[in-house]
Amino acid sequence: MSFGAGPTFVGPGFGAAPCHRHMPLSKQRSLAEDVGLADPEVKGAVIAVDGPAASGKGTVARALASHFNLPHMDTGLLYRAVALNLWRWGGDAGNQFEALRACDDLGFDQADPELRSEPVSKIASMISAYPAVRAALLQRQQDFAGQAGGAVLDGRDIGTVIAPHADVKLFVTASAQVRAERRLKELQERGMSAHYEDVLADIRSRDERDAGREVAPLKQAADALLLDTSTLTLEQAIAEALRLVDKRLARAAP
Ligand code: DC
Repeated sequence: MSFGAGPTFVGPGFGAAPCHRHMPLSKQRSLAEDVGLADPEVKGAVIAVDGPAASGKGTVARALASHFNLPHMDTGLLYRAVALNLWRWGGDAGNQFEALRACDDLGFDQADPELRSEPVSKIASMISAYPAVRAALLQRQQDFAGQAGGAVLDGRDIGTVIAPHADVKLFVTASAQVRAERRLKELQERGMSAHYEDVLADIRSRDERDAGREVAPLKQAADALLLDTSTLTLEQAIAEALRLVDKRLARAAP
């Protein structure tokens, strides 16, 4: 199995089914056994997963949500939805006020393939640098993180801004080269032609924009656990994430 975009799930309050339905129980059990976990029920835990594009953070977050039976929010989708709104009505991504207008009535179909298209990815990266756009999306994410039963959120600023008091924070990363290879494979699997050098350049410029912006830049929270997936398979990355989270939760238990 390789890293990939895969289906994205979001939990209650975000208009989607609980994510635990999407990973077969047999798979959850074998992963749990692999990493020596006994009890996959974690009530009320908030798990923050941050990292750069194509690091595998979405895959890891979905697997954690599935394993611990927690609702999941892919916060990048919110920025992508704003970008798609803006793109559809021909708004200017270089104008913060137009981007802010695109935050109104943010209903969207998370299965819409255009949400993950290249132009929308680029616009999402641009408009996510605007403080007004980030402020407009803040409450929705904090409400999701604050729900009583706990939650898993993935993005760029979950551990630093959205849920600074999360029970566990993971920062998932991989080298730019490995991420570019994964993204290239993903594009090819979708029947799109792309060149490695272009994909790598795109990953690097997105990293620069995400990490270089003034408000809520992409960065590892001081108390986040680092998970470098550069040399890991998907299964290994998930197993390592489960192990790290379990260890941190066990340490925090009374
Ligand atoms: O994770 P993603 O690639 O789907 O995110 C799309 C864009 O949204 C990305 O360029 C960075 C931005 N983003 C952000 O600024 N903060 C988040 N919490 C999530 C995504």
